[in-house]
Amino acid sequence: MTDLDAAIVVEGLRKRYGAKQALDGLDLTVARGTVHAVLGPNGAGKTTAVRVLATLLRCDEGRVEVAGFDVRTRPDEVRRRIGLLGQHAALDEELGGRQNLEMFGRLYHLGARRAGQRADELLERFGLADTGRKAVKQYSGGMRRRLDLAASLITEPHVLFLDEPTTGLDPRGRNEVWSAVRLLAGAGTTVLLTTQYLEEADRLADRITVVDHGRNIADGTADELKDLVGGERIDVVLRDAAHLQAAAAIIGALPDTGLPDIDDDNRRISVAATDRMAILTETIRGLRDAGIDAEDIAVRRPTLDEVFLHLTGGTGESSAGTEAHADVDTDPKAKVSA
Ligand SMILES: Nc1ncnc2c1ncn2[C@@H]1O[C@H](COP(=O)(O)OP(=O)(O)OP(=O)(O)O)[C@@H](O)[C@H]1O
Ligand SMILES: [Mg+2]
Repeated sequence: MTDLDAAIVVEGLRKRYGAKQALDGLDLTVARGTVHAVLGPNGAGKTTAVRVLATLLRCDEGRVEVAGFDVRTRPDEVRRRIGLLGQHAALDEELGGRQNLEMFGRLYHLGARRAGQRADELLERFGLADTGRKAVKQYSGGMRRRLDLAASLITEPHVLFLDEPTTGLDPRGRNEVWSAVRLLAGAGTTVLLTTQYLEEADRLADRITVVDHGRNIADGTADELKDLVGGERIDVVLRDAAHLQAAAAIIGALPDTGLPDIDDDNRRISVAATDRMAILTETIRGLRDAGIDAEDIAVRRPTLDEVFLHLTGGTGESSAGTEAHADVDTDPKAKVSA
């Protein structure tokens, strides 16, 4: 991809807060009209990266171009073309959904009429038309996040940044937001979203960049990342948990398998398999010879969870993740740009 096809180009991005190197050489290229997920544990540098890309924070080093403009030298041009949904919402709780959207429209210099029209269009688009007059404090988490998303679209941005759009939502709310993001991407908006949810990246993103400690640890489509863990996996569910260790020993001793994972709660053994037919056959034979009953045997692709654990060494949290830090995403001006 040349830079001309890219909506976002990031090269060697570095940002330090005091002694803390939050971004340490991040690279990122996002093609126009695609959804790109930046996936990483707490403290990986996701919000810092989004804030630099959205011109809210100056970086120390690196090249960053958004919608064709350098964020350092042409921030106004960038701002005119982006929308941002921060990690923490900036809605007025007492006002209705429609009033909130109108207010954002006015903030970005749409005339009163146009702001009202735009509010109605967006409420309709995100399935909030019926609840537009209700005060936001009465909204469910999913509705609130959809309203947030609507607010970040007031100015019809080319590039939309979503910082953990579904954190804290229940599965239903998450699904609602996912549909809304798909709708946007379908209409040609480039979306960069950060997430800690592997499933979210898997379901929404054309490409995924896995970050930890402020730098890339892997890039690719969900399928390419799954290939990193090694082809396919075989899951064996036993009838009796008492046989888990014995069965794992049998499976682990087969040629070309990895170390089996044992999941006691689900009576399941899971193992990487390079030659699935051979391993499937040998597993069935081995368990039968040992008199161990299997309830189910299945071949599947690795999950992104397994990829993530494999890549990050299984800590699930960046070592920096527990440090306290100020979050300034609550500034309403940070949400949308005209
Ligand atoms: N304003 C700040 N001052 C000092 N350190 C900060 C500041 N903002 C972030 N940090 C530190 O920089 C690192 C990256 O933080 P960042 O918020 O970008 O991570 P994140 O990936 O968004 O994490 P989370 O998933 O928790 O939102 C962390 O170690 C964090 O503590
Ligand atoms: Mg964050």
